[in-house]
Amino acid sequence: MKKVAFVIIGFILLGLPGLVRGQTIKGTDHDFSSRSWNTAHYLCQICHTPHHASTTRLIWNHKLSASNFTWGTETTTQGGTKLPGNIGTWGGMSKYCLSCHDGTVAVGDLYHNAYTTSEFVTGDAVVAPSGSLAGNHPISIPYPYQLAKNTYNTITTGDGVALNTFVADPTTTGIRLYNDDGAGHVSLGAVATKSGIECGSCHNPHDNTKSPFLRVTNDGNQICLSCHNM
Ligand code: HEC
Ligand code: HEC
Ligand code: HEC
Ligand code: HEC
Repeated sequence: MKKVAFVIIGFILLGLPGLVRGQTIKGTDHDFSSRSWNTAHYLCQICHTPHHASTTRLIWNHKLSASNFTWGTETTTQGGTKLPGNIGTWGGMSKYCLSCHDGTVAVGDLYHNAYTTSEFVTGDAVVAPSGSLAGNHPISIPYPYQLAKNTYNTITTGDGVALNTFVADPTTTGIRLYNDDGAGHVSLGAVATKSGIECGSCHNPHDNTKSPFLRVTNDGNQICLSCHNM
């Protein structure tokens, strides 16, 4: 009887990965603990440190890029929403991803307990060496949460955006939205008229179960349809 119960509990645990087993950064591209330069075998501390962090929010430990990032020659989206020029100084989390993924800062270059390494993100850098994000999906901009114009990072949804081509609340399917208190403080969760998107809307840096580190699978471009009602 006991064995049967254990087997059943085992199946339940396997069936609820996110809830019961937790996230799985170990063994992913974001697990640097076995690098020869990482003598303390830091798993978390490449990105967060309990003390001496560069920021209080997220206690961030990886050296930030000096770039503020541009979008090449573009200044707005097709719908007229302004593209942000302040990602390097903005409170949203995308600058933390770009601290490695713009390819200018070494992976082991930390604020506290820095390592000297020559390992940089190369193939997966999403930014041109000039600091241009051109060619990437917009980030640090408002999401038309509840099919209304939102203001996020001082940017308001453009007049040309067809609000009904968006999903009213994509967080119900696993997408992450952020809200802006208007004073540069960004928190998790959607708030009417104040919601926006960052790299972390689509990506979860701690979990590669839905590769590449996605919050919703891209199979059949399901992740696009989580936000775009097309
Ligand atoms: C490659 C960099 C990286 C590593 C390594 C990393 N994190 Fe994170 N972590 C992030 C980023 C980026 C965020 C912000 C996510 C967001 O805002 O969507 C974050 C957010 C968090 C949060 C806030 C809650 C949340 O879901 O956003 C906690 C708690 C956290 N990390 C703990 C950890 C722990 C514990 C480890 C080690 C097991 C770890 N992280 C390893 C990058 C990393
Ligand atoms: C400490 C440096 C660091 C930070 C911070 C970091 N990454 Fe990475 N990431 C890497 C490295 C290194 C790789 C391996 C690929 C390479 O070297 O080109 C990688 C790989 C990836 C991949 C590709 C995985 C695959 O299977 O192809 C994605 C997607 C990714 N990162 C997204 C993010 C996002 C989004 C953030 C912020 C939430 C982030 N990363 C933060 C260093 C980092
Ligand atoms: C709107 C959703 C979305 C946002 C926002 C987003 N990504 Fe991605 N990202 C994806 C999807 C989907 C893929 C997988 C693409 C594929 O399979 O061709 C991907 C792939 C990647 C990869 C893998 C290598 C590559 O070039 O395809 C990296 C690295 C990455 N993203 C980093 C980032 C960073 C850094 C940010 C923020 C600056 C970001 N992403 C913002 C959806 C997003
Ligand atoms: C987290 C929600 C979200 C996801 C997921 C998402 N998008 Fe978007 N997308 C947006 C928002 C918000 C805008 C900006 C709308 C505006 O204000 O112009 C946008 C804009 C766009 C644009 C117009 C860009 C421009 O310059 O006008 C295209 C095209 C697009 N997305 C395609 C995609 C594709 C393809 C995917 C899947 C790989 C995807 N999106 C995933 C939220 C999302």
